[in-house]
Amino acid sequence: MSQTILELANIHKTFQNGTPNENHVLRGLDLTVHKGDYISIIGGNGSGKSTLLNATAGVFRLDKGHIILNHEDITNHTEEQRATVISRVFQDPMMGTAPRMTVAENLAIALNRGNKRGFKRTLNEKNYNRFEKILADVGLNLEDKLTSEVGSLSGGQRQVIALLMATIKKPDILLLDEHIAALDPKATEQVMRLTEERIKENDITSLMVTHNMNHAIEYGNRLIMMDQGRVVIDISGEEKENLTVPELVELFNRESGKELIDNEMLFG
Ligand SMILES: Nc1ncnc2c1ncn2[C@@H]1O[C@H](COP(=O)(O)OP(=O)(O)OP(=O)(O)O)[C@@H](O)[C@H]1O
Ligand SMILES: [Mg+2]
Repeated sequence: MSQTILELANIHKTFQNGTPNENHVLRGLDLTVHKGDYISIIGGNGSGKSTLLNATAGVFRLDKGHIILNHEDITNHTEEQRATVISRVFQDPMMGTAPRMTVAENLAIALNRGNKRGFKRTLNEKNYNRFEKILADVGLNLEDKLTSEVGSLSGGQRQVIALLMATIKKPDILLLDEHIAALDPKATEQVMRLTEERIKENDITSLMVTHNMNHAIEYGNRLIMMDQGRVVIDISGEEKENLTVPELVELFNRESGKELIDNEMLFG
């Protein structure tokens, strides 16, 4: 039996409660994540994918339900507390990095995460050489950019740095929210390849939201589909490996009762 690392139990979240715009987004969501799972998450616009990740990261208080991480109830832990063990990469390359700081400084901040002392001490020669090696391994000539400000990099390069920052100190959970959606096709493939490498090499339990059905099938050991704030499909193992895009579209339409797939979802 695989070990449970994260459990979301009967999660409810309503935005703008008590107003005419009240929106009950997560509606009794249950999800058990096993150690080492790499889960791709798909679902229509507004189905609650980002809200699921935000709930896990502790961005807001839940109306109801529990979140258990490593057998500890973290439902009432703040976002800051969780940030020491849960890391994220967002769709927007501008988020997740400090633009006015250098690549080396950003990586040092990430490596220093959870430490009360400032990151400056982390920026020593040993770590500098380590960063250089990590960047050289990525293969995008980023090792020449260690002293450049992150704000001067391309979107793809920034996502590479964001991904390295999120994984340099192995998190318990990595949350990826359409982290390639703003990139051109070449950068998309580079960042997806790096994502796969970082997750596999460090054995990081990961949840990845994507609108790209091919990526959802190609990456990860498990695929879940959300609809109206709940997990409606949960496929893993051989069943996932053998899945085709038309079958997934068919499943989606059947489960959601709508023809919701747009071209973006099909072809990224
Ligand atoms: N902070 C917030 N305040 C108010 N409403 C919100 C907030 N965050 C999300 N919502 C609403 O909750 C619903 C679900 O949003 P969410 O971002 O989780 O959807 P999603 O599945 O990620 O969609 P997309 O594919 O468009 O990213 C939407 O109607 C959205 O407007
Ligand atoms: Mg979203």
